[in-house]
Amino acid sequence: MNIALIGYGKMGKAIHEIAKERGHEAVLIIDADNLSDLTPENIRKADVAIEFTSPHTAYNNVKFCLENKVPVVCGSTGWLDKLDEMKALATEKQTGLIVASNFSVGVNIFFEVNKRLAQLMNGQSNYEVTLKEIHHTAKKDAPSGTAISLAEQVLEELGRKDKWVNEESAQPGDLSIISERIDPAPGTHFVKYSSAIDDIEIIHTAHNRTGFALGAVLAAEFLKNKVGFFGMKEVLNL
Ligand SMILES: NC(=O)c1ccc[n+]([C@@H]2O[C@H](COP(=O)([O-])OP(=O)(O)OC[C@H]3O[C@@H](n4cnc5c(N)ncnc54)[C@H](O)[C@@H]3O)[C@@H](O)[C@H]2O)c1
Repeated sequence: MNIALIGYGKMGKAIHEIAKERGHEAVLIIDADNLSDLTPENIRKADVAIEFTSPHTAYNNVKFCLENKVPVVCGSTGWLDKLDEMKALATEKQTGLIVASNFSVGVNIFFEVNKRLAQLMNGQSNYEVTLKEIHHTAKKDAPSGTAISLAEQVLEELGRKDKWVNEESAQPGDLSIISERIDPAPGTHFVKYSSAIDDIEIIHTAHNRTGFALGAVLAAEFLKNKVGFFGMKEVLNL
């Protein structure tokens, strides 16, 4: 498969390695120093684009790919207020789009465990729930996209919580997400239910970026020749 890599930082490079191992070729690599190479002619050489840049640049890059009818896998976090617009554009252009706050297989299994635990806890009002995430200090957004996904899953299932807040909160309806920035953590997420009697906590710890990179390449392989919006749940058949 011919892929375009948009963003060639830590993730772009890790994805390139895995893509090569799986027999794919990067026919276009775009980073901040060669943005002028991101032309309609160049992007159309790719079967799928993989976008890992930043919260401020992802929207324009995803839009550019879809407008040129190139399916796109986007891992950049912090821009999801524009996601619905991009889902509509994918449908309009009859092109594929995958956006995931976290591409790792382990985290996507963790998401399913999180949903189930929240369902079980819905009737157990003695338990207070909090979320925590720890990432490296270069991370630009807080809370992490993964923590937001975990929080939204909890809010969906747990009637006693109304909204997430990125601080410790004493308001009963608030779901607190605590963000810590410590090097060299690639990403740890905690969901903790505490009562006077006991605690139940689920934790996912990424050891390196390989899991995210492999998941992004699996998503690109899944997306080739598909139309519409998909998540990692579909890619991994969870
Ligand atoms: N979804 C996931 O599984 C997952 C996993 C890790 C990181 N991320 C997210 O992916 C993004 C990138 O992470 P990273 O660790 O590779 O960051 P990074 O800072 O190492 O790399 C980002 C790269 O994008 C380049 N860039 C900036 N503007 C650009 C533009 N307009 N076009 C093309 N390239 C541009 C930068 O020069 C840099 O090399 C972040 O938003 C991060 O939160 C997501």
